[in-house]
Amino acid sequence: MARFTGKVAAVTGAGSGIGAAAALRFAAEGAAVLVSDINLASATQVAAEISKSGGRAVALRTDVASESDVAALVDRAVAEFGRLDVMVNNAGIGGLETSVDTIEDAAWRKLMSINLDGVFYGVKHAARVMKVAKVRGSIVNVSSILGLVAFEHAVAYTAAKHGVVGLTKAAALELAPLGIRVNTVNPAFIKTPLIAGLEEAVLPLHPAARLGTPEEVAALICFLGADEASFVTGASYLVDGGYVAK
Ligand SMILES: NC(=O)c1ccc[n+]([C@@H]2O[C@H](COP(=O)([O-])OP(=O)(O)OC[C@H]3O[C@@H](n4cnc5c(N)ncnc54)[C@H](O)[C@@H]3O)[C@@H](O)[C@H]2O)c1
Repeated sequence: MARFTGKVAAVTGAGSGIGAAAALRFAAEGAAVLVSDINLASATQVAAEISKSGGRAVALRTDVASESDVAALVDRAVAEFGRLDVMVNNAGIGGLETSVDTIEDAAWRKLMSINLDGVFYGVKHAARVMKVAKVRGSIVNVSSILGLVAFEHAVAYTAAKHGVVGLTKAAALELAPLGIRVNTVNPAFIKTPLIAGLEEAVLPLHPAARLGTPEEVAALICFLGADEASFVTGASYLVDGGYVAK
């Protein structure tokens, strides 16, 4: 039997890159998937791909910086499919090319509102419905290697991604007695539109001598989402081609 038969997964930022790869893999392994993105057209395309392959998916527009949007996404999972088993808080934006002494408040706030507040809303509302329904669910937050180490000219991004690691640990402690697990994945540079233009500069930083693929991150997300990871919570997992080991 497929790992996610009878389960329901919601993925934010699922119209592109890592989120799209995760949504496709959850569906291929039997889950009904809520494919959510701020860009409804791209979410609709991913959901259509799932349906074409015989899977179950619903596309919806969610801006993760809006708590009411995230609450509605989670409630839609329950309304449409009866439950929520796996929540993947993946949506994020890049934030390079700023300096600590010149970054504008608006740029800092925008990045925090999507890359940190957005994950907080996802954890909060997934926990709310899992708790009520007594679902022993899994919440997977997409941080970054920059949740563990820093990068020049990425002060807000680095701070937000470190914040995701702390939020994950704190939430995991509270939810562990209920059987709800919360973990973080920490990818190095992955070939997606988010890093367009940076590929050549960052490739030599990876001992594996290549960038990662969205599918390689999705494999880790799905492991953490599945019951086989039943004793894994409050943890951060690198998927980085050796970047942080160097
Ligand atoms: N690509 C990398 O090198 C890399 C490395 C480490 C971590 N990450 C993280 O992985 C996650 C996914 O990034 P990706 O590389 O797949 O990027 P991507 O640009 O391919 O996909 C991100 C998706 O998020 C959506 N999005 C943006 N703002 C949103 C919002 N406010 N609400 C909802 N959706 C929104 C975009 O429309 C897009 O579809 C991000 O959190 C990113 O920080 C990426």
